Amino acid sequence: MTFQKDLLAGQNILVTGGGSGLGRAMAERFAALGAGVAIWGRREAPLADTVAAIESAGGRACYATCDVRDPEAIARALDAVEDAGGLLTGLVNNAAGNFLSSSEDLSANAFDAVVKIVLYGTFHTTQALGRRWIERCNGACDPTAHVLSIVTTYAWTGSPFVLPSACAKAGVLAMTRSLAVEWATYGIRANAIAPGPFPTDGAFSRLMPPGVAERARASNPLGRFGEPAELADLAAYLFAPNAGYVNGECVTIDGGSWLKEGGEFAAFVDHPRDELKATMAAMRPKKTR
Ligand code: COA
Repeated sequence: MTFQKDLLAGQNILVTGGGSGLGRAMAERFAALGAGVAIWGRREAPLADTVAAIESAGGRACYATCDVRDPEAIARALDAVEDAGGLLTGLVNNAAGNFLSSSEDLSANAFDAVVKIVLYGTFHTTQALGRRWIERCNGACDPTAHVLSIVTTYAWTGSPFVLPSACAKAGVLAMTRSLAVEWATYGIRANAIAPGPFPTDGAFSRLMPPGVAERARASNPLGRFGEPAELADLAAYLFAPNAGYVNGECVTIDGGSWLKEGGEFAAFVDHPRDELKATMAAMRPKKTR
Protein backbone atom coordinates (compact mmCIF):
# COMPACT_ATOMS: atom_id res chain seq x y z
CA MET A 1 0.00 0.00 0.00
CA THR A 2 1.37 3.41 -0.98
CA PHE A 3 -1.11 5.17 1.32
CA GLN A 4 -2.89 4.64 4.60
CA LYS A 5 -6.10 2.67 4.04
CA ASP A 6 -8.58 5.43 4.89
CA LEU A 7 -6.75 8.22 3.02
CA LEU A 8 -9.88 9.33 1.14
CA ALA A 9 -12.50 8.56 3.83
CA GLY A 10 -15.33 11.08 3.82
CA GLN A 11 -14.92 11.93 0.13
CA ASN A 12 -17.35 11.07 -2.65
CA ILE A 13 -15.72 11.31 -6.05
CA LEU A 14 -17.28 11.24 -9.52
CA VAL A 15 -15.12 9.72 -12.27
CA THR A 16 -16.38 10.32 -15.81
CA GLY A 17 -15.54 7.45 -18.14
CA GLY A 18 -15.11 5.38 -15.00
CA GLY A 19 -16.33 2.06 -16.41
CA SER A 20 -13.10 1.10 -18.17
CA GLY A 21 -9.40 1.80 -18.59
CA LEU A 22 -7.73 4.45 -16.47
CA GLY A 23 -11.09 5.76 -15.21
CA ARG A 24 -11.91 2.36 -13.76
CA ALA A 25 -8.42 2.05 -12.23
CA MET A 26 -8.89 5.42 -10.47
CA ALA A 27 -12.42 4.60 -9.30
CA GLU A 28 -11.29 1.27 -7.84
CA ARG A 29 -8.31 2.87 -6.12
CA PHE A 30 -10.35 5.71 -4.60
CA ALA A 31 -12.89 3.19 -3.28
CA ALA A 32 -10.13 1.01 -1.80
CA LEU A 33 -8.87 4.12 0.02
CA GLY A 34 -12.26 4.77 1.62
CA ALA A 35 -13.97 7.18 -0.80
CA GLY A 36 -17.45 6.63 -2.17
CA VAL A 37 -17.28 6.70 -5.96
CA ALA A 38 -19.74 7.49 -8.71
CA ILE A 39 -18.94 6.61 -12.31
CA TRP A 40 -20.36 7.77 -15.61
CA GLY A 41 -20.09 6.41 -19.11
CA ARG A 42 -22.16 5.94 -22.24
CA ARG A 43 -22.43 2.14 -21.99
CA GLU A 44 -24.22 0.61 -19.02
CA ALA A 45 -22.53 -2.83 -19.00
CA PRO A 46 -18.98 -1.67 -18.10
CA LEU A 47 -20.38 0.70 -15.47
CA ALA A 48 -22.43 -2.03 -13.80
CA ASP A 49 -19.44 -4.39 -13.95
CA THR A 50 -17.12 -1.83 -12.32
CA VAL A 51 -19.61 -1.01 -9.56
CA ALA A 52 -20.07 -4.74 -8.85
CA ALA A 53 -16.28 -5.21 -8.63
CA ILE A 54 -15.92 -2.26 -6.23
CA GLU A 55 -18.79 -3.47 -4.05
CA SER A 56 -17.50 -7.02 -3.92
CA ALA A 57 -14.16 -5.62 -2.70
CA GLY A 58 -16.04 -3.86 0.12
CA GLY A 59 -16.22 -0.38 -1.44
CA ARG A 60 -19.10 2.03 -2.08
CA ALA A 61 -20.02 2.87 -5.68
CA CYS A 62 -22.88 3.84 -7.96
CA TYR A 63 -23.23 4.76 -11.62
CA ALA A 64 -25.30 6.67 -14.15
CA THR A 65 -25.16 6.49 -17.93
CA CYS A 66 -24.25 9.87 -19.38
CA ASP A 67 -22.97 11.31 -22.64
CA VAL A 68 -21.04 14.35 -21.45
CA ARG A 69 -21.68 16.12 -24.77
CA ASP A 70 -25.21 16.80 -23.55
CA PRO A 71 -25.50 19.37 -20.70
CA GLU A 72 -29.03 18.20 -19.84
CA ALA A 73 -27.80 14.60 -19.54
CA ILE A 74 -25.07 15.87 -17.21
CA ALA A 75 -27.62 17.52 -14.91
CA ARG A 76 -29.74 14.35 -14.86
CA ALA A 77 -26.72 12.12 -14.18
CA LEU A 78 -25.52 14.39 -11.36
CA ASP A 79 -28.96 14.10 -9.74
CA ALA A 80 -28.94 10.33 -10.20
CA VAL A 81 -25.56 9.68 -8.57
CA GLU A 82 -26.09 12.20 -5.76
CA ASP A 83 -29.46 10.55 -4.99
CA ALA A 84 -27.89 7.10 -5.01
CA GLY A 85 -24.50 7.74 -3.41
CA GLY A 86 -24.72 11.06 -1.57
CA LEU A 87 -23.41 14.54 -2.33
CA LEU A 88 -20.27 14.62 -4.45
CA THR A 89 -17.10 16.20 -3.07
CA GLY A 90 -14.70 15.58 -5.96
CA LEU A 91 -14.61 15.16 -9.73
CA VAL A 92 -12.26 13.44 -12.17
CA ASN A 93 -12.79 14.56 -15.76
CA ASN A 94 -11.54 11.40 -17.45
CA ALA A 95 -14.08 10.73 -20.25
CA ALA A 96 -12.40 11.22 -23.62
CA GLY A 97 -12.62 10.43 -27.29
CA ASN A 98 -9.74 10.18 -29.70
CA PHE A 99 -8.61 8.54 -32.94
CA LEU A 100 -5.77 8.86 -35.43
CA SER A 101 -6.52 10.86 -38.56
CA SER A 102 -4.76 13.23 -40.92
CA SER A 103 -6.09 16.69 -40.14
CA GLU A 104 -6.98 17.42 -43.78
CA ASP A 105 -9.21 14.30 -43.78
CA LEU A 106 -11.25 15.19 -40.68
CA SER A 107 -14.94 15.86 -41.28
CA ALA A 108 -16.60 18.67 -39.34
CA ASN A 109 -18.45 16.01 -37.39
CA ALA A 110 -15.24 14.14 -36.55
CA PHE A 111 -13.64 17.30 -35.10
CA ASP A 112 -16.83 18.04 -33.16
CA ALA A 113 -17.11 14.48 -31.80
CA VAL A 114 -13.76 14.68 -30.01
CA VAL A 115 -13.87 18.33 -28.96
CA LYS A 116 -17.42 18.02 -27.64
CA ILE A 117 -16.51 15.07 -25.45
CA VAL A 118 -13.15 16.31 -24.21
CA LEU A 119 -13.49 20.09 -23.97
CA TYR A 120 -17.22 20.79 -23.86
CA GLY A 121 -17.98 17.68 -21.78
CA THR A 122 -15.27 18.54 -19.26
CA PHE A 123 -16.39 22.15 -18.99
CA HIS A 124 -20.10 21.40 -18.67
CA THR A 125 -19.53 18.69 -16.05
CA THR A 126 -17.16 20.90 -14.08
CA GLN A 127 -19.42 23.93 -14.24
CA ALA A 128 -22.55 21.97 -13.27
CA LEU A 129 -20.90 20.38 -10.23
CA GLY A 130 -19.00 23.55 -9.33
CA ARG A 131 -22.24 25.52 -9.26
CA ARG A 132 -23.71 22.97 -6.85
CA TRP A 133 -20.64 23.18 -4.60
CA ILE A 134 -20.59 26.98 -4.55
CA GLU A 135 -24.29 27.12 -3.72
CA ARG A 136 -24.11 24.40 -1.06
CA CYS A 137 -21.05 25.67 0.75
CA ASN A 138 -22.09 29.28 0.53
CA GLY A 139 -18.73 30.22 -0.92
CA ALA A 140 -16.56 28.33 1.60
CA CYS A 141 -16.16 24.78 0.37
CA ASP A 142 -14.52 21.97 2.27
CA PRO A 143 -10.83 21.68 1.24
CA THR A 144 -11.55 18.31 -0.37
CA ALA A 145 -13.55 20.03 -3.13
CA HIS A 146 -11.35 19.25 -6.10
CA VAL A 147 -11.59 18.99 -9.88
CA LEU A 148 -8.94 16.75 -11.44
CA SER A 149 -8.80 16.63 -15.23
CA ILE A 150 -6.93 14.01 -17.22
CA VAL A 151 -5.13 15.71 -20.10
CA THR A 152 -2.13 14.46 -22.09
CA THR A 153 1.51 15.34 -22.64
CA TYR A 154 0.71 16.83 -26.05
CA ALA A 155 -1.70 19.34 -24.46
CA TRP A 156 1.14 21.89 -24.51
CA THR A 157 3.13 20.75 -27.56
CA GLY A 158 0.27 19.81 -29.87
CA SER A 159 0.59 16.59 -31.87
CA PRO A 160 0.17 15.55 -35.48
CA PHE A 161 -2.65 13.11 -36.33
CA VAL A 162 -4.67 13.77 -33.15
CA LEU A 163 -5.41 17.45 -33.75
CA PRO A 164 -8.96 17.55 -32.27
CA SER A 165 -7.72 15.89 -29.10
CA ALA A 166 -4.68 18.20 -28.90
CA CYS A 167 -6.90 21.30 -29.26
CA ALA A 168 -9.40 20.01 -26.70
CA LYS A 169 -6.84 18.89 -24.12
CA ALA A 170 -5.02 22.24 -24.41
CA GLY A 171 -8.38 23.85 -23.63
CA VAL A 172 -8.90 21.60 -20.61
CA LEU A 173 -5.47 22.57 -19.29
CA ALA A 174 -6.35 26.25 -19.73
CA MET A 175 -9.67 25.62 -17.97
CA THR A 176 -7.83 23.95 -15.09
CA ARG A 177 -5.44 26.85 -14.60
CA SER A 178 -8.21 29.43 -14.95
CA LEU A 179 -10.45 27.74 -12.38
CA ALA A 180 -7.56 27.07 -10.00
CA VAL A 181 -7.36 30.80 -9.42
CA GLU A 182 -10.99 31.77 -9.92
CA TRP A 183 -12.57 29.06 -7.75
CA ALA A 184 -9.86 29.11 -5.06
CA THR A 185 -12.01 31.90 -3.63
CA TYR A 186 -14.62 29.22 -2.88
CA GLY A 187 -12.09 26.66 -1.62
CA ILE A 188 -12.27 24.56 -4.80
CA ARG A 189 -8.97 23.29 -6.22
CA ALA A 190 -8.34 22.36 -9.86
CA ASN A 191 -5.45 20.22 -11.07
CA ALA A 192 -4.57 18.02 -14.02
CA ILE A 193 -2.62 14.86 -14.75
CA ALA A 194 -0.90 14.42 -18.11
CA PRO A 195 -0.39 10.70 -18.76
CA GLY A 196 1.91 9.42 -21.47
CA PRO A 197 1.41 5.91 -22.88
CA PHE A 198 -0.68 3.63 -20.66
CA PRO A 199 -1.80 0.45 -22.38
CA THR A 200 -5.59 0.38 -22.09
CA ASP A 201 -7.88 -1.23 -24.68
CA GLY A 202 -9.74 2.03 -25.41
CA ALA A 203 -6.65 4.11 -26.09
CA PHE A 204 -4.32 1.57 -27.67
CA SER A 205 -6.91 0.14 -30.07
CA ARG A 206 -7.42 3.67 -31.44
CA LEU A 207 -3.98 5.18 -31.13
CA MET A 208 -1.34 2.46 -31.54
CA PRO A 209 -1.15 0.93 -35.01
CA PRO A 210 0.23 -2.64 -35.09
CA GLY A 211 3.98 -2.68 -34.53
CA VAL A 212 4.13 0.86 -33.15
CA ALA A 213 3.48 -0.10 -29.53
CA GLU A 214 6.74 -2.02 -29.22
CA ARG A 215 8.72 0.89 -30.67
CA ALA A 216 6.96 3.31 -28.33
CA ARG A 217 7.79 1.11 -25.36
CA ALA A 218 11.44 0.77 -26.35
CA SER A 219 11.89 4.49 -26.96
CA ASN A 220 10.48 5.50 -23.57
CA PRO A 221 13.38 6.66 -21.34
CA LEU A 222 12.33 4.06 -18.75
CA GLY A 223 11.85 1.39 -21.43
CA ARG A 224 8.28 0.62 -20.44
CA PHE A 225 4.68 1.84 -20.45
CA GLY A 226 2.87 3.12 -17.39
CA GLU A 227 0.81 0.90 -15.12
CA PRO A 228 -2.78 2.08 -14.49
CA ALA A 229 -2.14 1.59 -10.75
CA GLU A 230 0.65 4.19 -10.91
CA LEU A 231 -1.68 6.78 -12.39
CA ALA A 232 -4.42 5.86 -9.91
CA ASP A 233 -2.03 6.43 -6.99
CA LEU A 234 -1.01 9.83 -8.35
CA ALA A 235 -4.69 10.78 -8.64
CA ALA A 236 -5.34 9.51 -5.11
CA TYR A 237 -2.52 11.70 -3.78
CA LEU A 238 -4.03 14.77 -5.44
CA PHE A 239 -7.30 14.07 -3.59
CA ALA A 240 -5.55 13.44 -0.26
CA PRO A 241 -6.13 15.98 2.53
CA ASN A 242 -2.41 16.86 2.59
CA ALA A 243 -2.46 17.78 -1.10
CA GLY A 244 -4.64 20.79 -0.27
CA TYR A 245 -1.97 23.32 -1.31
CA VAL A 246 -1.50 21.79 -4.79
CA ASN A 247 -3.64 23.94 -7.05
CA GLY A 248 -3.44 24.72 -10.78
CA GLU A 249 -0.75 22.10 -11.30
CA CYS A 250 -0.46 19.61 -14.15
CA VAL A 251 1.52 16.55 -13.11
CA THR A 252 3.11 14.57 -15.94
CA ILE A 253 3.36 10.79 -15.64
CA ASP A 254 5.05 9.43 -18.76
CA GLY A 255 8.45 7.99 -17.81
CA GLY A 256 10.11 11.14 -19.17
CA SER A 257 8.76 10.50 -22.66
CA TRP A 258 7.74 14.00 -23.68
CA LEU A 259 11.02 15.52 -22.57
CA LYS A 260 12.89 13.01 -24.70
CA GLU A 261 10.72 13.56 -27.76
CA GLY A 262 10.82 17.32 -27.25
CA GLY A 263 14.58 17.77 -26.85
CA GLU A 264 16.43 18.64 -30.03
CA PHE A 265 19.22 16.15 -29.30
CA ALA A 266 17.11 13.66 -27.40
CA ALA A 267 17.00 11.06 -30.18
CA PHE A 268 20.75 10.61 -29.63
CA VAL A 269 19.91 8.42 -26.64
CA ASP A 270 18.71 5.74 -29.07
CA HIS A 271 22.27 5.28 -30.38
CA PRO A 272 24.66 2.88 -28.61
CA ARG A 273 26.19 5.01 -25.88
CA ASP A 274 29.80 4.02 -26.56
CA GLU A 275 29.49 4.97 -30.22
CA LEU A 276 27.83 8.23 -29.29
CA LYS A 277 30.60 9.11 -26.85
CA ALA A 278 33.23 8.31 -29.46
CA THR A 279 31.48 10.50 -32.02
CA MET A 280 31.19 13.39 -29.58
CA ALA A 281 34.83 13.01 -28.59
CA ALA A 282 35.89 13.03 -32.25
CA MET A 283 33.94 16.26 -32.79
CA ARG A 284 35.63 18.02 -29.91
CA PRO A 285 38.08 20.72 -31.11
CA LYS A 286 41.73 19.78 -30.59
CA LYS A 287 43.59 21.75 -27.91
CA THR A 288 45.97 24.20 -29.58
CA ARG A 289 48.27 24.60 -26.53
N1 COA B 1 -11.09 8.70 -38.42
C1 COA B 1 -11.74 9.74 -38.99
N2 COA B 1 -13.01 10.09 -38.63
C2 COA B 1 -13.60 9.35 -37.68
C3 COA B 1 -12.98 8.26 -37.04
C4 COA B 1 -11.66 7.94 -37.49
N3 COA B 1 -10.98 6.91 -36.91
N4 COA B 1 -13.83 7.73 -36.14
C5 COA B 1 -14.96 8.47 -36.19
N5 COA B 1 -14.81 9.44 -37.11
C6 COA B 1 -15.80 10.41 -37.50
C7 COA B 1 -17.03 9.75 -38.04
O1 COA B 1 -16.87 9.40 -39.42
C8 COA B 1 -18.07 10.82 -37.81
O2 COA B 1 -17.99 11.84 -38.78
P1 COA B 1 -19.02 11.88 -40.05
O3 COA B 1 -20.40 11.95 -39.46
O4 COA B 1 -18.64 13.12 -40.78
O5 COA B 1 -18.78 10.62 -40.83
C9 COA B 1 -17.62 11.47 -36.51
O6 COA B 1 -16.25 11.12 -36.34
C10 COA B 1 -18.37 10.96 -35.33
O7 COA B 1 -18.23 9.56 -35.29
P2 COA B 1 -19.28 8.64 -34.58
O8 COA B 1 -18.74 7.25 -34.58
O9 COA B 1 -20.63 8.88 -35.17
O10 COA B 1 -19.32 9.31 -33.13
P3 COA B 1 -19.39 8.64 -31.75
O11 COA B 1 -19.92 9.64 -30.84
O12 COA B 1 -20.05 7.32 -31.75
O13 COA B 1 -17.84 8.36 -31.42
C11 COA B 1 -15.60 8.96 -31.15
C12 COA B 1 -17.01 9.29 -30.86
C13 COA B 1 -15.38 9.20 -32.62
C14 COA B 1 -14.69 9.87 -30.37
C15 COA B 1 -15.27 7.48 -30.87
O14 COA B 1 -13.92 7.20 -31.18
C16 COA B 1 -15.52 7.11 -29.43
O15 COA B 1 -16.66 6.88 -29.05
N6 COA B 1 -14.50 7.07 -28.59
C17 COA B 1 -14.70 6.86 -27.15
C18 COA B 1 -13.61 6.20 -26.49
C19 COA B 1 -12.26 6.70 -26.83
O16 COA B 1 -12.03 7.35 -27.84
N7 COA B 1 -11.31 6.34 -26.01
C20 COA B 1 -9.94 6.68 -26.22
C21 COA B 1 -9.53 7.81 -25.40
S1 COA B 1 -7.80 8.04 -25.48
